[in-house]
Amino acid sequence: MSAAIQPYTLLDDEDCESRILAARKTLGERLVILGHHYQRDEVFRHADFTGDSLKLSRQAASSKADYIVFCGVHFMAEVADILSRPDQVSILPDMSAGCSMADMADLQNVERAWQELSEVLDTEQTITPVTYINSAADLKAFCGKHGGIVCTSTNARHVLEWSFKQREKVLFFPDQHLGRNTGYPMGIALDEMVVWDYDQPLGGLSVAQIQKAKIILWKGFCSVHQMFQPDQIDNFKQKHPETKIISHPESSFEVCQKSDYIGSTEYIINTIANAEKNTRWLVATELNLVNRLHEQFKHEGKNVHFMSPNVCMCSTMFRIDPQHMAWVLENLVDGHVVNQISVPVDVAFQAKLALERMLDVSP
Ligand code: 13P
Ligand code: SF4
Repeated sequence: MSAAIQPYTLLDDEDCESRILAARKTLGERLVILGHHYQRDEVFRHADFTGDSLKLSRQAASSKADYIVFCGVHFMAEVADILSRPDQVSILPDMSAGCSMADMADLQNVERAWQELSEVLDTEQTITPVTYINSAADLKAFCGKHGGIVCTSTNARHVLEWSFKQREKVLFFPDQHLGRNTGYPMGIALDEMVVWDYDQPLGGLSVAQIQKAKIILWKGFCSVHQMFQPDQIDNFKQKHPETKIISHPESSFEVCQKSDYIGSTEYIINTIANAEKNTRWLVATELNLVNRLHEQFKHEGKNVHFMSPNVCMCSTMFRIDPQHMAWVLENLVDGHVVNQISVPVDVAFQAKLALERMLDVSP
């Protein structure tokens, strides 16, 4: 029988640290730990590979390890399960580490939207469904089944370009901001990107709005990235006019329009890493990453600041803690798999189609 989590919750972080290190040593190459950039340092330091969603998906697809322990959120561990071999095991140390944005679109609502849109348009001929990777596996399967595709914040532009080659319109879910911030620099006007409110009949839109739209954006958002506001940029720049602004595309359109650079977590890291010494950065993304960047580059005179005056972390990413890590790893040493993420085979098959289309068009 597997050991219960309860006794582990009483351990302090140092105890967990030594137990994690010992378990990793015993498991050797049978284990790979993947860590998203938003993970807290006590967890992040144990990752064999770190990255944004795209990079970690590729790592999961190419890993040879028996066990893939994903320090991230639920949809990431699902992607690891879908892209890895059937005999590999994907594990999420805390099952409650979800993504509140991903939860804003569910299959029932998306199927209803597709049905309602089909009363206005021939959906299969005119709309490519595109799901942000921050979504449940059954939504990726929906895209696989309907000729659609998955995107991440790194490849969203390539994915939209591919999508418009297939069909004239895109239904983009769940993050309206990533959709809008990607569509606008492609020359799509704001009034050609309408928001589908899933609580209203026909998404709260008129038939004319739907017919005119190039992108139908789902009414979803990331609560962490909604903390960032354009006036925070203005106020900061008044004190430090030389500051460069860099934002994740889950931030609002207004924040992104005031930013010098927009991109994924990996892009943000690389841009600051490759910047000139003695530069100042105001960053719109999750706090753990921004703090780590500041610590990493302060010796080069780079000042990296968090955009919002309020402390704001991704609370679900934060659920992965050293206690849960020690728990899942010691169970693996004892031959027990706890917290396996296993996507049903039929869902995984269709979802993989949409993920593979994404990997094919990604730079
Ligand atoms: P990245 O793919 O840029 O790491 O983004 C994932 C995410 O959830 C950002 O909120
Ligand atoms: Fe989801 Fe936002 Fe957390 Fe990213 S930061 S995992 S989008 S809730």
